[in-house]
Amino acid sequence: MAGNSFGKNFMLTTYGESHGIALGGVIDGCPAGVSIDIDAVQADLDRRKPGQSAIVTQRKEPDVVEIYSGVFEGMTTGTPIGFSIRNTNQKSKDYSHIKDSYRPSHADYVYDQKYGFRDYRGGGRSSARETAARVVAGSIAKQLIKPIEIQAFVSAVGELTLPNPQNISDFSFIEQNPVRCPDAEMAAKMETYIKQIRKEGDTVGGMISCIAKNVPVGLGEPVFDKLHAELGKAMLSINAVKGFEYGSGFAGATRRGSAHNDLYNEDGSTKTNNSGGIQGGISNGMDIYFNVAFKPVATIMQDQETIDSKGDKVVMQGKGRHDPCVVPRAVPIVEAMTALVLADFTLRNRTSKC
Ligand SMILES: Cc1cc2nc3c(=O)[nH]c(=O)nc-3n(C[C@H](O)[C@H](O)[C@H](O)COP(=O)(O)O)c2cc1C
Repeated sequence: MAGNSFGKNFMLTTYGESHGIALGGVIDGCPAGVSIDIDAVQADLDRRKPGQSAIVTQRKEPDVVEIYSGVFEGMTTGTPIGFSIRNTNQKSKDYSHIKDSYRPSHADYVYDQKYGFRDYRGGGRSSARETAARVVAGSIAKQLIKPIEIQAFVSAVGELTLPNPQNISDFSFIEQNPVRCPDAEMAAKMETYIKQIRKEGDTVGGMISCIAKNVPVGLGEPVFDKLHAELGKAMLSINAVKGFEYGSGFAGATRRGSAHNDLYNEDGSTKTNNSGGIQGGISNGMDIYFNVAFKPVATIMQDQETIDSKGDKVVMQGKGRHDPCVVPRAVPIVEAMTALVLADFTLRNRTSKC
């Protein structure tokens, strides 16, 4: 399997399967001398972990990060940072029903066709458990890129949509509710809806919005490695993501230039921010903002018609402990992938001029 690494100068390689001994990663390229707050890393991991509230999967995975190398007395040493998270709550028999059959809209069929071998336990490498390693690395990246601040939050669950998420400036309620929506009234509606969806044995999609503040001008390489292109790749590499838009996004296609252009103030900032903080693939110093759309995940607690590995029709029953809606747990994943991109471009930008 190729493609387990992300980034050029700040590069993360992840390893591990859902029900193996552990999963983790190696960060290559983190400079020496970054002060690392391990409690902050663990706190980010806790925001992703299963079993954290009544509206997410009830798997109880403690997800404790162990750093093996590259950090000494609280500082990075410039050597590779190796880390792992042990898998301690595997119930592999919950997955025996998918050993020879394919969950519709999951990755079972394509893995079998591509590799001819498949660790079906918990979905193996296709499980979003892999993203725990991204959260650890992203949390370390966040510490490298200070004073940049990255905040993601849930802006839609099904058709319940928060209007103009790019204008949200009060983030204080996000971690005070299990949905991670910044608006109390909308958060309550979303929570009730997710509970209803779970009762019906179904799943629902949603959207995460992300805002990065204090980003300096100049991050991003203007041809193939545009900042928004790398952010798009980062987001689209997250399990269950179906869409990415930044700035005015798809709505921008309906507007006129005279209404859409971001006019300058004398200090180079802009009066509006339809560009989403990126012009020509390079950050312009305004807030970067984007939206990430997640599908309703595949595993539903209902009978579904599917096929087995011989191509015979079978009925599959949903089993195991799954998320009815993944967006609350995906918020720290979106932040982590954003931090990885910004850390990589921060290091790359050091070669842009004398
Ligand atoms: C935080 C998170 C949790 C997930 N949990 C589940 C789950 O419980 N059940 C499931 O079928 N898919 C779950 N997924 C999605 C699958 O990993 C994903 O749909 C699958 O790998 C197929 O990839 P694709 O949807 O990107 O095509 C989750 C995704 C995320 C981001």
